[in-house]
Amino acid sequence: MNKEINKYLAELNKIKIKDANELEKFRIKYISKKGIIPLLFSQLKNIPNNEKKEVGLKINSIKEKVKSIINNHKEKFVKNISNDNFEDLTKPADFIKLGSKHPISIVKNKIIDIFLKIGFDISEGPEIEDDWHNFTALNLPEHHPARDMQDTFYISKNPDWLLRTHTSSVQIRHMENNEPPIRTISPGRVYRNEDISARSHCFFHQIEGLYIDKNVSFVDLKQTLLHFTKELFGKSKIRLRPSYFPFTEPSAELDIYWGLETEADYRITKGTGWLEILGCGMVDPNVLKNCKIDTEKFSGFAFGLGIERITMLLYQIEDIRTLYENDLRFLNQFSRSV
Ligand code: DAH
Repeated sequence: MNKEINKYLAELNKIKIKDANELEKFRIKYISKKGIIPLLFSQLKNIPNNEKKEVGLKINSIKEKVKSIINNHKEKFVKNISNDNFEDLTKPADFIKLGSKHPISIVKNKIIDIFLKIGFDISEGPEIEDDWHNFTALNLPEHHPARDMQDTFYISKNPDWLLRTHTSSVQIRHMENNEPPIRTISPGRVYRNEDISARSHCFFHQIEGLYIDKNVSFVDLKQTLLHFTKELFGKSKIRLRPSYFPFTEPSAELDIYWGLETEADYRITKGTGWLEILGCGMVDPNVLKNCKIDTEKFSGFAFGLGIERITMLLYQIEDIRTLYENDLRFLNQFSRSV
């Protein structure tokens, strides 16, 4: 076997490779599955034990040599191709792997589109907020018990900095900087100091809606939300259940009639057929006053919804955590959605 190995080493020392074609032949001859190097390694077991080490080292040195020959030539030929030869322009292009939109973005964009079409614009605000915009201006003065409705991540006291607990803070910023009529939606991420489980997380996404004009009434709120549920879910049976939010008076929770056709419908609606979708109400005059809007002239409605909840509903996702794990096996399933 020693002889054989020496023969190959001598051959390698003299080797001349002219072009990419010859290089490929050389590669196949030496390192393909049935090439010389795998063959030599497979013969190693027939060699007496005391010689094994020496022969093994020699085969390895052939392998290293082959590799370096391939690498050196590869560089040369690739350069040649780009410098002097034309590539085959009829060759099919390399396959470009396209990413896919995240389900939260898909649903967020769908919701945004619905409201843009009926005259709303988009406003955004900071995720690190002050106490005024997240609470006080929204009719939640210090020590107000409703502050406990949302467990807050505080960053500092005096000045008060916190991670916004809802996108309603953007409502205040928008009213401070714009005169009515106002029609705006505010998508964004919010944070709450909550345990992480299949149904809740310490951050999630919301969309807040705000409409301020002359003579805005509860009927406008109801019709706008009805339009929204028809567009997004294809459902036109809704109900507004009395509720409480400090920033709206009266306040309501919007439920849609989901139906009770499948076993899953029973599970997600807890056997009632109804599903809670969002919170809403007529903007409390105190909130308008805090933003220097004349309450004699103007009134309005607002609503806020969680994007994750709706995404989970539309795609039948059972565990909120799968939305944040970035597991490609999960995300690739949305590559055909827009
Ligand atoms: N900010 C509320 C929350 O995070 C949602 C909400 C309810 C927003 C009613 C509103 C509203 O604008 O009118 O739970």
